[in-house]
Amino acid sequence: MSLEPVSQRTQPVFLRNVRFGFGGRVIQDEMTFTIEDGEFVAVLGPNGAGKTTLLKLLLGLIRCEAGEVMVFGRKPRRGNSGIGYAPQFRTLDANFAVRARDLVGFGLDGHRFGPGFPSRKRRKLIDEVLEEVHATEYAEASVGELSGGERQRLSLAQVLIANPGLVLLDEPLTNLDIAGAQEIITLVSRLCASRKVAVMLVTHDINPLLPHVDRVLYLANGRCAIGPPQTVITRETLSVLYNHPVEVVEAMGKKFVLGVET
Ligand SMILES: Nc1ncnc2c1ncn2[C@@H]1O[C@H](COP(=O)(O)OP(=O)(O)OP(=O)(O)O)[C@@H](O)[C@H]1O
Ligand SMILES: [Mg+2]
Repeated sequence: MSLEPVSQRTQPVFLRNVRFGFGGRVIQDEMTFTIEDGEFVAVLGPNGAGKTTLLKLLLGLIRCEAGEVMVFGRKPRRGNSGIGYAPQFRTLDANFAVRARDLVGFGLDGHRFGPGFPSRKRRKLIDEVLEEVHATEYAEASVGELSGGERQRLSLAQVLIANPGLVLLDEPLTNLDIAGAQEIITLVSRLCASRKVAVMLVTHDINPLLPHVDRVLYLANGRCAIGPPQTVITRETLSVLYNHPVEVVEAMGKKFVLGVET
């Protein structure tokens, strides 16, 4: 008899024994975990480990080869408005001349202009979310005039405006300086607490996230480990995951993984 608690499978994310890959090549196998409402999970792992592909699986953009995936108790499906997604490689440059507030509005109705939300309600929603990400002061600016950190805040606002229960952020901290990264992390962390949004944030550097995340999902070598940072980012867990001796050195409250690509 199993002593595991019976899952209702209605969590933001439920995966059991999942395998995915491309053209016969397995990227991840036996992936089993759940993510609860309001949880902040960092997704880590070396290039090619399958982090982006995992998000695409949850978005219904690819299918798994084995196992079971549920998002809020349903099979993943494209266009699920319950999920907010900020992709890894964004070409905000295409929106160079667009005003910040209009870019955020795209999150309500995609890249379509014209009838959608009534304009007063739309304006109120945009104002509220801009305030939430502290971007009110440049609401009227063109996106092209803004810094990387300011654009990231808009990107977050664009994701949040549709009020998702699950937010997938693929490397939102790339190209940000320490202060910029810290600001995004603080915003996301507050969001998990206030809106009870579950967040999966992909990154290559756990350190700025250490004080904020509930758990870490670490992908490597076709396998994964999940748990609080103090149990996952350890010599023991990572050496098993990579099937290779790994050292974790701690200094000044930071963790440094030695011996492998991270
Ligand atoms: N559409 C595709 N067709 C074939 N192979 C793919 C496809 N998409 C991704 N892959 C392969 O799957 C593996 C995992 O890719 P993925 O983009 O998920 O990695 P990642 O962990 O996000 O890496 P990075 O840190 O570089 O962003 C890579 O080896 C990649 O080449
Ligand atoms: Mg990726």
